[in-house]
Amino acid sequence: MEKFRFLTSGESHGKSLTAIIEGVPAGVGIDIDFINSELHRRQQGYGRGDRMKIESDTVEITSGVRFGKALGSPITLVVKNRDFENWQKIMSVSPNDRTDDKAFSVYRPGHADYAGAVKYNQEDLRNILERSSARKTAIEVAVGAVAKLILKEIGISGSSEVTQIGSACCPDKFHKEIDLAKENGDSVGGKFVVVYKNIPVGLGSHVHWDRGIDGRLAQVVMSIPAIKAVEIGDNPLGLCGSEYHDEFEIKDGEICRTSNHAGGVEGGMTNGQDLVVSAVMKPIPTMMKPLESIDSKTNEKAKAHYERSDVCAVESCAVVAEARIAWVLVNEILLKYGSDSIDELKSRMI
Ligand SMILES: Cc1cc2nc3c(=O)[nH]c(=O)nc-3n(C[C@H](O)[C@H](O)[C@H](O)COP(=O)(O)O)c2cc1C
Repeated sequence: MEKFRFLTSGESHGKSLTAIIEGVPAGVGIDIDFINSELHRRQQGYGRGDRMKIESDTVEITSGVRFGKALGSPITLVVKNRDFENWQKIMSVSPNDRTDDKAFSVYRPGHADYAGAVKYNQEDLRNILERSSARKTAIEVAVGAVAKLILKEIGISGSSEVTQIGSACCPDKFHKEIDLAKENGDSVGGKFVVVYKNIPVGLGSHVHWDRGIDGRLAQVVMSIPAIKAVEIGDNPLGLCGSEYHDEFEIKDGEICRTSNHAGGVEGGMTNGQDLVVSAVMKPIPTMMKPLESIDSKTNEKAKAHYERSDVCAVESCAVVAEARIAWVLVNEILLKYGSDSIDELKSRMI
């Protein structure tokens, strides 16, 4: 992330989530309504839990933007956790407020609880839950929205679609699959695809393994909580070379392809075709019907800790993936074309 850099911070029930982004070219239009609409998209989707009813995320910009345009200086984004008012004491930074209220000690299978508690030497598993929770993806979506605003200036746009929920591959059956899981106190995962259009040729590189855009895309999508598989283009398993590879042709004097099985990446570089990235999300690990676990205090059998939870979050996860892919594209564009201002970037990309 050398050219479009940022850090995020914030706990699930802490005061707020924050990001400081560095590298946004001066002059990019920063439309707060657009950032908020992306935050809203992340909160939607059939199967989301009650928290989405409490929280209606909006962003506050506290630096780097003046009169709707990026200044080229670091941009700070803040998304408040509205639920914090109920958690002020529990999440207090002061040692005087120490409480065991909301502490828990039964590991939740499928979560960071066990490994996190061992690694960070924590007794109260809340100290792991608070940051490992997917709540942090809200601020990531806000950063992604800024990246999308840069992409918009240069004519690049992305979208996503859910392609599978549980075992159902057709949208008519998605809600039924989620309802059934809910009725059973269970959860479901699924698959989605993200497509970005109008991508220039040559983002990423074949010259060294760590410069391939495919590797960068895989990393940002795989590290979304609950993602367990990432594909670029069509899954080639079982296909012959003649079925999978995209042949060249000339149309209206332009070089183009007869298909896009490769998903817009060959040799670690974008090839000018649509960028197509799919990912598989595992079923949500917190369930009304809790799994067997161990109480870390007693080492005795116990039911996994339950905290209000989504039954399915594949639609939201797709929005997070759109955001993360936008970061990669902006970074690669800035690596290739440089640019301190958006006008300079546009002139270099012609
Ligand atoms: C948008 C989104 C919402 C999520 N919501 C929940 C949830 O409500 N309950 C839950 O147990 N896990 C939820 N997860 C998944 C967990 O955060 C994730 O499985 C967990 O942190 C362990 O990480 P891992 O699955 O990558 O190993 C969500 C993930 C995403 C991307």
